[in-house]
Amino acid sequence: MFESDLERVEKEGLYRSLRRIGSSQGRVITVGGREILQFCSNDYLSLANHPKIIQTVIECINKYGWGSGAARLISGSMGPHLEFEEHIAQFLDKPAGLLYSSGYLTNVGIITSLMGRKDKIFADRLCHASIIDGMRWSGAKINRFRHNDPDDLKRLIERSTGGGKLLIVSDGVFSMDGDIAPLKELAELAERYGAILMIDDAHGFGIFGPEGRGVPHHFGVCERVNIHVATLGKALGGAGGFVTGSRSFIDGLINFSRSFIFSTAPPPAQAAAGLASLELIAGTEGAIRRKRLMKSVERALRELAGMGYNTAQTKSQIIPIIIERDDLAAGFAKSLFDNHILAPLIRPPSVPKGTSRIRVSLCADHEEGDIGNLIKAFADLKSLLIDKK
Ligand SMILES: Cc1ncc(COP(=O)(O)O)c(C=O)c1O
Repeated sequence: MFESDLERVEKEGLYRSLRRIGSSQGRVITVGGREILQFCSNDYLSLANHPKIIQTVIECINKYGWGSGAARLISGSMGPHLEFEEHIAQFLDKPAGLLYSSGYLTNVGIITSLMGRKDKIFADRLCHASIIDGMRWSGAKINRFRHNDPDDLKRLIERSTGGGKLLIVSDGVFSMDGDIAPLKELAELAERYGAILMIDDAHGFGIFGPEGRGVPHHFGVCERVNIHVATLGKALGGAGGFVTGSRSFIDGLINFSRSFIFSTAPPPAQAAAGLASLELIAGTEGAIRRKRLMKSVERALRELAGMGYNTAQTKSQIIPIIIERDDLAAGFAKSLFDNHILAPLIRPPSVPKGTSRIRVSLCADHEEGDIGNLIKAFADLKSLLIDKK
């Protein structure tokens, strides 16, 4: 069925396949029996195997069982779903919250229910695929502004005509570049033009802002962000998505958001794990983990820059190491793997030509020696680049 498409991607060197790992997630994983130091996980605070979360899940399963039965409008909400939503709303200073099965479904479910054919969406050009899919399926008029460029956003809003709702949407921290959206400027434009402001802070939640509340709190604009989305699959170390906003907005999602209405609710233990993670990130342990993570980020950025590597505009735990020669990028990733280091290779068309990159993501459990190994591997690769010049 897909044969010719698969042949094409194979020819283009873009064929994707799954890798089996023989261990749990963590700073070191086993692949084909080899121990590999990994820099590709979004488990930024290294909570995926936290004993407190595991214990919470076991206790929750003992109490509520595993399955949730059906979609929540059919079989009802269980205690852990409601407790998570109440706590996340409180934590993010919003009246209400809603849990979805994933961040992808959260974005799709919000945008398709809120926006329609008469409406206009203004989205950063580097927004996540789930935002793009939601925009396309909503039928609204889509305008993409230049990455992190409020002036271009203003130009597009002023150029647009007709009525309908306006939605400005951006990632908080960008997943491929690690840079941060200018939320103050976006909030000002949203207010000036009467637009709804939606921020997907999947990669900022748990890391930035007081107690890890994320980028909107980091910039002090949380009350100006109408729709605050994030996921349980990254710093919270689990899986699932959530959104917070006004009570009527959340009631609207319960009534109109198809990815919420027509999908089996996450198992109650998934919500209970989210709540246990939330307690950790908001407490002393979260603060210690964030500090350790940022120390590694600072060192890696300093030493990579010292070797002349381009790490773009990153300000976060996501470090893109740009290999301008797209033809050499695959060799780079392979050499890293031969050195027992796993970091994903991102190439065009996922990113513009001439900006292939190794996307390193750092986690709280990475040790000084791990960062040292990463730096040494990149120092060795520098000679590969020089030889090919
Ligand atoms: C910015 C952003 N939003 C949403 C998602 C989707 O979240 P989830 O993995 O929970 O579906 C991701 C990542 O996968 C992401 O990077």
